[in-house]
Amino acid sequence: MHQVKIFDTTLRDGEQSPGCSMNLREKIEVAKCLEKMKVDVIEAGFAISSPGDFESVNTIAKTIKDCTVASLARASEKDIDTAWDAVRDATDPRIHLFIATSPLHMEYKLKMTPDQVLERTAAMVKYARNYCSNIEFSAEDATRSDIDFLTKVVDVAIRNGASVINLPDTVGYTTPSEMRAIIEHMINNVENADKVEFSVHCHNDLGMAVANSLAGVLGGAKQIECTINGLGERAGNTSLEEVVMAMRTRPDIFEVSTEIDTTKIYRASKTVYNIIGQNPPINKPIVGKNAFAHESGIHQHGVLANKKTYEILTPEAVGITANNIVLGKHSGKHAFQAHINEMGYTLTEEELLKCFDEFKALCDKKKNINDADIEAIVIHNTSADEEVRPDEYALDWFAVHTSNFTTATSTVSLIKNGKKYEDVCLGDGPIDAAFNAIDKIVKPVKHTFDLYTINSISEGKDTLGDVTVKLLADNRSYVGRGLSTDIFEASILAYIKAMNKMMRAYSSDQAGEKETANDN
Ligand code: KIV
Ligand code: ZN
Repeated sequence: MHQVKIFDTTLRDGEQSPGCSMNLREKIEVAKCLEKMKVDVIEAGFAISSPGDFESVNTIAKTIKDCTVASLARASEKDIDTAWDAVRDATDPRIHLFIATSPLHMEYKLKMTPDQVLERTAAMVKYARNYCSNIEFSAEDATRSDIDFLTKVVDVAIRNGASVINLPDTVGYTTPSEMRAIIEHMINNVENADKVEFSVHCHNDLGMAVANSLAGVLGGAKQIECTINGLGERAGNTSLEEVVMAMRTRPDIFEVSTEIDTTKIYRASKTVYNIIGQNPPINKPIVGKNAFAHESGIHQHGVLANKKTYEILTPEAVGITANNIVLGKHSGKHAFQAHINEMGYTLTEEELLKCFDEFKALCDKKKNINDADIEAIVIHNTSADEEVRPDEYALDWFAVHTSNFTTATSTVSLIKNGKKYEDVCLGDGPIDAAFNAIDKIVKPVKHTFDLYTINSISEGKDTLGDVTVKLLADNRSYVGRGLSTDIFEASILAYIKAMNKMMRAYSSDQAGEKETANDN
């Protein structure tokens, strides 16, 4: 049994996909989840791509102590210099440099000949080695590359000091047998292949990313690159939770282990979905709502007799606690705290008080409180960037009037810096009317309204409504979530949060521009 390393690229390959952008605080929150889960490598970003990316890679490098922190770089000196500047303060920094090796990419994207690509690979791996010994080299579009040429590139990268060789299936084109064969070919044909770790990085365009990664492991790969919830370009990357649980569930096939604390998987998945304003499809393996539900009578009967009849892994193994109703109106703060600790959450005193207050308020509105309600309260009150600052808008009160024979009207009162602002608007339904009233008060920057979703947290008519609103401005998305048994209130809270985030980013951009103008 040997160990396979888990390289998480949620903050780079995941974050670069549309609608999944995260701000600095959110990225740090995700990085901390990954560290707790004990991933081996965190790819924190692509440092040269923007000043914001540089800052987040650099902050994560300084914050994370127990994982290798990597930055991506193209095979150019400037990229490598910037990647190194961003990760140099990490406990174990890694530069991850890449160049494309497929005929299509070399001719049309790089406009380079194969010989030039070989030369650049040698020179840039060598250049990066001047900075640190932990160098990962990726041959982009490896699976559509000529195998003899790819072998030469890998050989050159190893000769010049790469310690990890990653062979990405950039466009999700390969199949399990092919992926396995490519890794085996490299191990058998490249001199000094035993001195490096081979790695797989699969995209999911044909739904085979997890299978292809596992086949790579069977071929001898010692590192899997993946993302939480399979986030990533187009159809996404290999999903961390699926690939890790597959190896854990079938050691008889894969004969490998990972360092991952699988009980942290569910929490990490929730955190990422919460930040990007999405929910898992209900049938998503491992983390979807139905992943462990047994609906049919035959299955239920079997599971009651012996769980193993239909359960190959337990919810507890990935950190999902039993849905016990143990708390209610008369529960005290200590019982509440003990229960959320049991659910895997550790809160600061301030967060605990906020959550407890909200829990008590919910007890007055809802008869049965279960773990899903409590979890929703905890997530809404502890996520990065969720709190409303005094100089931002908070909800004071609202009133809606609607019927099926009049135009809906909403009145909203907001507070900012202790001052109240009230407006009233008509709309295409009460939620639209309330959002219009908020727009009149906030006077937001130019943006588009990207998404509105509402989910029920648990069963029953008195369920909490969990509303997500996503706004888009300047190619960045701003997610707000609101939680209430009243869906109008949940919607208004979500909209205000998204607005605040957008206006906060806008004012820091303005401040940045002013600073640059003063510098000149
Ligand atoms: O998909 C890909 O090829 C990549 C590389 C840059 C590693 O993400
Ligand atoms: Zn990729």
